[in-house]
Amino acid sequence: MGNKKVLIAYGTRYGSTEEISQEIAKTLGEKSLEPELFNLGKSKSKNWPQLDDFDGVIIGTSLKINAWKKEVKSFLDKNKIDFKNENKKLGVFTCGAYAIGEPTEAKEDIAKRLMKKYGLEADIYNAFGGILDFSEDSKIGKLGQLALKAAALGLSNEKGLEIDKNGCNDFRDWDKIRSFAESFADKL
Ligand SMILES: Cc1cc2nc3c(=O)[nH]c(=O)nc-3n(C[C@H](O)[C@H](O)[C@H](O)COP(=O)(O)O)c2cc1C
Repeated sequence: MGNKKVLIAYGTRYGSTEEISQEIAKTLGEKSLEPELFNLGKSKSKNWPQLDDFDGVIIGTSLKINAWKKEVKSFLDKNKIDFKNENKKLGVFTCGAYAIGEPTEAKEDIAKRLMKKYGLEADIYNAFGGILDFSEDSKIGKLGQLALKAAALGLSNEKGLEIDKNGCNDFRDWDKIRSFAESFADKL
């Protein structure tokens, strides 16, 4: 019997969710699983992978104005019957500003959305902090920076976080990300 296969299907805008997905793939590989990465936003839905081949699926999305990426929502909707199959393990993670610091609410929001919109319960889910990039080279553009700066100010007051208002703030917690991947591997 070959190694168990895991699809990591994700939606990203500026690449931080993609890098998280790559780290998850690396960790799963170290656990003798066979990960396959797929950026849902890069191809039409008719070319998305079929799930039959996979023992587990991890879905990742970044957040913008409190919304999941639309291709991720379509993917969940398209495959919800498969995800109800007990034999196929489902992991879900989000990447965003609101998970920085104390992520309990952002984490519970995942479970609520999955149940409300798709009638799904994930085997494992977690919310990871993302990148708040206010540097000159930022990909989010001036308008995005303005919107995010207001949110960042709220976050720094609420959670006592230090945020560099002119630099790139990377709040991704790689230990937490790797431990998520390890826990998923243990479920397979
Ligand atoms: C305009 C804008 C709106 C955002 N809105 C949210 C939000 O509502 N909730 C949140 O947690 N993060 C929000 N973020 C933060 C992003 O989720 C974070 O930058 C993340 O790292 C982006 O991931 P990506 O590079 O994979 O797209 C927002 C970022 C921008 C630029």
